[in-house]
Amino acid sequence: MKVLMVCLGNICRSPLAEGIFRKQAQLRGLGWEVDSAGTGSWHVGEAPDPRSIQIARQQGLDISDQRARQIRLTDLSAFDYIFAMDRSNYRQILELANDHEQRSRVHLFLDYAGRDQESDVPDPYWNDNGFQEVYHMLDQASHQVIDRILDQSVSMTTDQGIADSVQ
Ligand code: 4NP
Repeated sequence: MKVLMVCLGNICRSPLAEGIFRKQAQLRGLGWEVDSAGTGSWHVGEAPDPRSIQIARQQGLDISDQRARQIRLTDLSAFDYIFAMDRSNYRQILELANDHEQRSRVHLFLDYAGRDQESDVPDPYWNDNGFQEVYHMLDQASHQVIDRILDQSVSMTTDQGIADSVQ
């Protein structure tokens, strides 16, 4: 399974999402590939924001090796799941997509996690105090999203099994 996390700058939210999600998937023995990108190009080549690095480090997670990149059209075919951190990112990614197959891979991360109260991971760039909250949101949602992807692949395998046995 290949999963891409997307925010605006690829320096605050999506690097945290990438690190947290990859670690959780590894702890569950899943050999999933996890990456992140930004819809904007301002920070391409940069390490994550020092505040994201620090909040992750406090939780025993090192994200300092990551480098920002901009999302590209080929990502929409190369990744099975593309998760937007907020609705603005979601709209930007959909504008890039050029067919139904690509659009169907794009989801709002918190929606996919089953959160009904909030859909957006708030952008902490202008708010030093926002990083803790973002970390915990992403941590909780990642558990839920991994559960849902696993459920989804089980039901697809079962459907395929039924389809095979029907034929
Ligand atoms: P991110 O946060 O989308 O979570 O990486 C931001 C980073 C940079 C900017 C905005 C948001 N910026 O305007 O440069």
